[in-house]
Amino acid sequence: MGTSPKYTSLFLILRTFFFFSSYVHSQTSDSCTTPLTLQPQTPLPFDTTSLHCVTVWPSQGFILRYVQGAPNVWNFLLSAPNTNAYIAIGFSPNGNMVGSSALVGWIGADAIPVLQKYYLGGQSPNLVTLESPDQGLTISNSSMFPQSNQLYIAFQLITDTTPVPRLIYSVGPAGRLPSGPAYQLTQHRDQISTLLNYATGQNYFLSGLANQIKLM
Ligand SMILES: *[C@@H]1O[C@H](CO)[C@@H](O)[C@H](O)[C@H]1NC(C)=O
Repeated sequence: MGTSPKYTSLFLILRTFFFFSSYVHSQTSDSCTTPLTLQPQTPLPFDTTSLHCVTVWPSQGFILRYVQGAPNVWNFLLSAPNTNAYIAIGFSPNGNMVGSSALVGWIGADAIPVLQKYYLGGQSPNLVTLESPDQGLTISNSSMFPQSNQLYIAFQLITDTTPVPRLIYSVGPAGRLPSGPAYQLTQHRDQISTLLNYATGQNYFLSGLANQIKLM
């Protein structure tokens, strides 16, 4: 009552703006502060209600959710923006790329999701080679799927001990996707080496992120 039309229209404009910005946000990103909502057509082989959530690579929007699901099973869900590039998570013995075993996923030709396991034997692409299921990490029920401009890699790691804490991540150059039969990876566009405390969810950056605490 008595509100001038000028303020009413300003209010409407602001309300519209905030409505659309929150709408766009919820449609295009994933975060640890919003509940995980996966589409029913992409069922996961594990329960997602008790996953720990860590923003493991803030500048590239990588989010890792994980929980120990059984004495020898650890459940993981990696989420990253879909930039028409491969995304990768590697388990590293010492924080370096070389010697790591990595899961790499992308949306390939004809929109078919592809997930492959690699041994990172060296820094040049020809030394990064496909691993057979019985080499390197023992992975079960792995899947790769897109949803709302995000890519997800879900997998179960079979291990009698806590998984190695040194995790590395990378993202490939846009539009340069591996193809069969060798699935050779193009060198990553960006990478980071981290240390995850599985018990607390604390994540440290060992390299790849400027102005961050260095532990080594
Ligand atoms: C993989 O999924 C199947 C079917 O959901 C389940 O029975 C099996 O226990 C899973 N594997 C692991 C390691 O949990």
